[in-house]
Amino acid sequence: MTILVTGGAGFIGSNFVLDWLAANDEPVVTLDALTYAGNLANLTSLTGDSRHQFVRGSIGDSALVGRLLRGHDVRAVINFAAESHVDRSISGPAPFFETNVMGTLHLLEAVKAYVTGLEETKRRDFRFLHVSTDEVYGTLARDEAPFAETNPYKPNSPYAASKASSDHLVRAYRETYGLATIVTNCSNNYGPLQFPEKLIPLIVHNALNGKALPLYGDGLQVRDWLYVGDHCSALRRVLEAGKPGETYNIGGDNQKTNIEVVRTICALLDARRPRPDGASYAAQITHVTDRPGHDRRYAIDPTKLAGELGWRPAVVFEEGLAKTVDWYLGNEAWVTDVTSGAYREWVARQYG
Ligand code: NAD
Ligand code: TYD
Repeated sequence: MTILVTGGAGFIGSNFVLDWLAANDEPVVTLDALTYAGNLANLTSLTGDSRHQFVRGSIGDSALVGRLLRGHDVRAVINFAAESHVDRSISGPAPFFETNVMGTLHLLEAVKAYVTGLEETKRRDFRFLHVSTDEVYGTLARDEAPFAETNPYKPNSPYAASKASSDHLVRAYRETYGLATIVTNCSNNYGPLQFPEKLIPLIVHNALNGKALPLYGDGLQVRDWLYVGDHCSALRRVLEAGKPGETYNIGGDNQKTNIEVVRTICALLDARRPRPDGASYAAQITHVTDRPGHDRRYAIDPTKLAGELGWRPAVVFEEGLAKTVDWYLGNEAWVTDVTSGAYREWVARQYG
């Protein structure tokens, strides 16, 4: 049988597809619309691999999704496809609702129709795994307990609101139509192949290009960082043993302020590629106007996933961040390719 991975040319999706095929031989069909954030080069190493097929298309195209599900005897869908960048959702929310909400709705419709036509055993074993974010829970005060699966949804950005809506839709398809859905809510990911609009790759890219390292507000906002390979291993485990109808929070118990993260990146770069003038890259740090509605702190309580499914992250932050910086230093052609055209327009609009 086969799994269908949507959004598999993006950051986490492509890491998931690569890790999946490195770990086992079950074929993968990747469906991706190749928006600005999707990059087929992420999957170049799979060229000619008969276990992988790439299809360019949208999760909103129910007819296409239906053909792929039937044609490949798909046993599970892992839905990564989304608009994913908070700042873009603030300057233009509509695409977030078109893709994350309406796209997910059409995808669920196609999956429901497919599953209805399956014979009993295949219907019982089918899974729809919806990949979501901790941002649906809103923000935490400094001393508040990390997000558990029972926390109420309180999204603050248009991105978070669109992901929260999609999570609710997925839940409704479970309750109303009995679809075997599972939702995961993960904290901030970092690692290779992340588009340099997100904090960590943006800082590496700007540092190396002699540009300002923009920190929103006081830079004391907290994120709970997880290495992307650990997110992928958690998703494999949830697919294997997670219970339909359940939600699992995924996180690495690794809370850092943004300023700490940026300073650590600067120190890694200072050691690996010192600035010609001998100064630290930290000299390029610039505090800029804060993001509107900026969530102060995210933190995940991963007790359920650890206790019920025995998952633990494998990569500690210092090691993961060093690996990530090394990846960007070793893949400057990849960065050059993705930072042309549309990327430059975005940077000009966002950072002036
Ligand atoms: P990304 O922006 O790097 O990739 C998204 C991918 O989806 C791109 O390849 C894009 O082309 C594709 N896509 C967009 N619209 C599509 C459509 N209509 N049909 C098919 N493909 C479409 O995002 P990411 O960081 O890899 O995030 C993947 C998923 O994980 C998202 O759902 C996101 O909400 C979730 N998530 C991300 C993080 C994080 O830190 N990056 C954390 C938790 C959850
Ligand atoms: P980001 O990578 O966009 O992820 P998210 O908003 O989903 O958490 O941002 C991570 C944190 O870094 C967040 O608190 C916003 C902050 N940030 C900056 O300070 N400067 C930047 O240029 C960017 C992109 C983010």
